[in-house]
Amino acid sequence: MPAAVLTRSGHFIPAILKHLIQQAEQRLEQAAESAVAQPQAVRRRVGRCQGERHDSAHRNALHPRLQSTASCRPCPLAFVGTAPDLAIAVCRAGGLGSLAVGPLPADAVRSLIRAVRAATDGPLNINFITFLANQAQIQTCFDEQVSVVSFHWGHPPREFISTLHDPGIKFWEQVGSVAAAKESVDSGIDLIIAQGSEAGGHNYGSLPTFVLVPSILEAVAPTPVLAAGGIANGRQLAAALVLGADGVSIGTRFVASNEAFAHAEYKRRLVEAAGTETRLSSVYGPDMPHFNPMRVLDVGLAHEFAGQEETAPTDLESQPIIGTMRLAGETIPLHRFSSFVPTPDTDGRIDELPFLAGQGVGLIHRVMPVAEIMETIVEEAALALSAVRVPHEGESEV
Ligand SMILES: Cc1cc2nc3c(=O)[nH]c(=O)nc-3n(C[C@H](O)[C@H](O)[C@H](O)COP(=O)(O)O)c2cc1C
Repeated sequence: MPAAVLTRSGHFIPAILKHLIQQAEQRLEQAAESAVAQPQAVRRRVGRCQGERHDSAHRNALHPRLQSTASCRPCPLAFVGTAPDLAIAVCRAGGLGSLAVGPLPADAVRSLIRAVRAATDGPLNINFITFLANQAQIQTCFDEQVSVVSFHWGHPPREFISTLHDPGIKFWEQVGSVAAAKESVDSGIDLIIAQGSEAGGHNYGSLPTFVLVPSILEAVAPTPVLAAGGIANGRQLAAALVLGADGVSIGTRFVASNEAFAHAEYKRRLVEAAGTETRLSSVYGPDMPHFNPMRVLDVGLAHEFAGQEETAPTDLESQPIIGTMRLAGETIPLHRFSSFVPTPDTDGRIDELPFLAGQGVGLIHRVMPVAEIMETIVEEAALALSAVRVPHEGESEV
């Protein structure tokens, strides 16, 4: 193998890097064969991009995956990504749209799926928090033949897997440890999302993304793995691909998008925050200790109760009402210490609600449309990969 290869853009890329990239491509191609990880809409887009942009000097000619948005996957986002707008925007940008449905009744899940389908024929992922999911919701996903059903916060029970048994439906699971990843793969999960401890939201990542991803890859190969946690730009996508991941799953960056159903103040705070200004906290939703901790901005109750989260009251009903939220057609009172995420339909003291955010938050500089975020990340990744160079002969190696 030669030590380095020269790209179209004139950069040297170490041959080992080229080899790693090719491996990642092959794994994604294999996943593509199953028609879900690389849905048809994305394939069309890849083809188009390859044709249109083949000669672009600043794109990495070695990495066709980076000429599409397939490797950059916005992840399911509770509340913010329960309304269909974000999923629709992702599908239209050539990605896999996700609806985080949590405890919504099966009828509401069906209506949401149909709302997305009325707007786009892109592939759809319905995401569940495992312990909140029920058989009726799962049956709805089967009836509606969604492309992917994904789970977070626990391994799905056997009956869910058997209800969804269909070659056209894939199971994904987000895990925070090597042990959980192995268990998932042993029970037939098709793709693992490795959630590092930097991740925003409910997070039990045992290790940072940079360590967790290769550890899980070693343990579950050849199962495809996406990297999640703290990823907000293209350099990090490039790094994840080089680590061996098949792509990335990104949350916080997409909360700060035009289409996310997040309160304007929440988006503003994400743009303002530094990467050091988050905290893992279990102060929100202390009535459900098994559904904590969450990574949130280190403000409000998270800051006030830092280090003494166990003193937060577990009987939320006894707490003052700090606001209301419109959800599935109803107005819901929000008690102090609620874990509900502020949406545009939330009124009251939103400062006392959690602003879920990963440690990559300091890399977010403005609120942008989803399509632009996806394309920018992929573009940056291509640039980052093509900028990796080894010294010319006789040149200093420092
Ligand atoms: C506002 C918000 C809501 C989230 N809701 C969910 C959810 O409902 N289901 C899920 O699987 N993950 C959820 N996550 C976690 C993501 O799947 C993912 O692990 C995380 O966003 C990745 O880290 P990042 O935010 O630093 O990109 C959420 C994250 C955020 C920021």
